Amino acid sequence: MAWRPNKLNKLPLYKQIANYLESRIINGEFPPDSRLPSERELAHQLNVNRSTVNAAFEELRSTGLVKRIVGYGTVVNKKVWKNGHGRVPNWDQYVKEGFDQPNNPLNQQIYRYIGSDDRLINFAIGELSADLWPAKLIQSISDTLFKNDFLGYENVQGNLQLREAISDHLKPYRQIESTPSSILITSGAQQAIHLIIRGLLHPGDSVAIEDPSYAYSLPIFHSKGLNTHFIPVHKNGIDPEQIIAIHKKHRLKMLFLNPTYHNPTGVSLDIERRRKVMEICTNYGIAIVEDDPYCLLGYQQPPIPTLKSMDQEGLVLYVSSLSKIVASGLRIGWILGPQNVINRLTDVKQQMDFGPPNLPQWIAANLLRSEHFNEHIENLKIELKKKRDLTIESLQKELNDNIYFLIPKRGIHLWCKIQNEQIDEKVLFQQAVKNGMVFTLEIH
Ligand SMILES: Cc1ncc(COP(=O)(O)O)c(C=O)c1O
Repeated sequence: MAWRPNKLNKLPLYKQIANYLESRIINGEFPPDSRLPSERELAHQLNVNRSTVNAAFEELRSTGLVKRIVGYGTVVNKKVWKNGHGRVPNWDQYVKEGFDQPNNPLNQQIYRYIGSDDRLINFAIGELSADLWPAKLIQSISDTLFKNDFLGYENVQGNLQLREAISDHLKPYRQIESTPSSILITSGAQQAIHLIIRGLLHPGDSVAIEDPSYAYSLPIFHSKGLNTHFIPVHKNGIDPEQIIAIHKKHRLKMLFLNPTYHNPTGVSLDIERRRKVMEICTNYGIAIVEDDPYCLLGYQQPPIPTLKSMDQEGLVLYVSSLSKIVASGLRIGWILGPQNVINRLTDVKQQMDFGPPNLPQWIAANLLRSEHFNEHIENLKIELKKKRDLTIESLQKELNDNIYFLIPKRGIHLWCKIQNEQIDEKVLFQQAVKNGMVFTLEIH
């Protein structure tokens, strides 16, 4: 009797049909380049709807086994066959259909340029220049540090000594009360954002982020199927009322802010707006992720309070890292949050990478405890100010009325708007690369 899909089988009909056709292709009944029966014929033969056959064909197409040619039909792909008989996976298809969204092509181009030419002057990635890394201090710590236990697996939540050092650091430097158990060590703030999205959100949830915002976080929001709403950043930060407007329409689940020395604009959310953001999010029960890698780079006394230090209700997940104040290559970041959240994110991290690497954690713990840490930060601020002033002077001299920018109080970002309509930013970008310099452009 002719094969028919089994309607009592748990496997959907279209999958049964796809498997059946696949086995006939592999057995050579439908050789490369041959045409499969039409949807109509198969639907009739197999006693199913045409839409079921269509779904089966799509399944085969997605694995690269067939291609569909409009007006002609469904054809067995030649490319999937080697000279002999084995099949070659269709890697192009895998690459297109993987879970995570690709980075924006401009970002991909930027990190390719940076990776391939270390002479490039790099204004595209927020990173301290090598002369600002505390190399001697790290060297002296590493020389005295090594122990055999560093070579085994560590606590997935992060080395306890490092969590204690961070907890002790948060109070004087960021006015935040914490305990080591409420801290999870991550591979930079980047992984912290990733873990929060993976561990706490669900496709279809609404989140709000700043516009413009840290460009390398954007694909993560898109990949996970979140509804992302943008709040423009002005010279004093976002307008808090916009949170209400978006929440009323879309029921916001989480607000992502980089409120201090924001990437890429360099501005900070002023104190009044901070209070308002906290009040609104408390009233509406909206969780906040405070992404705060730059706050130590300021001079203001007293420093602008972190949102976390104003958080009475436990609404803020505080994310930071050593990338912008020590060295990005250590890949040490952290999340501070309620215990149940930290436990959940630790579990996600365990599945992802089994915990942070040992050696950088020990270096980081000793560095934060070092009597020279504060001196390093103070020196960093002085050197960054010199670099900022030199950049401003050069921009004013070379580009003058062609651009407009706000002078950043501190941090490491300077964001320019082109005011000359004859300058095309994409052309400018390509010319800059040719001349050995790279910067970034606004990306959504
Ligand atoms: C706002 C912001 N968040 C997170 C990151 C990621 O930094 P890292 O993973 O090196 O800590 C950056 C880096 O530029 C950033 O600017």
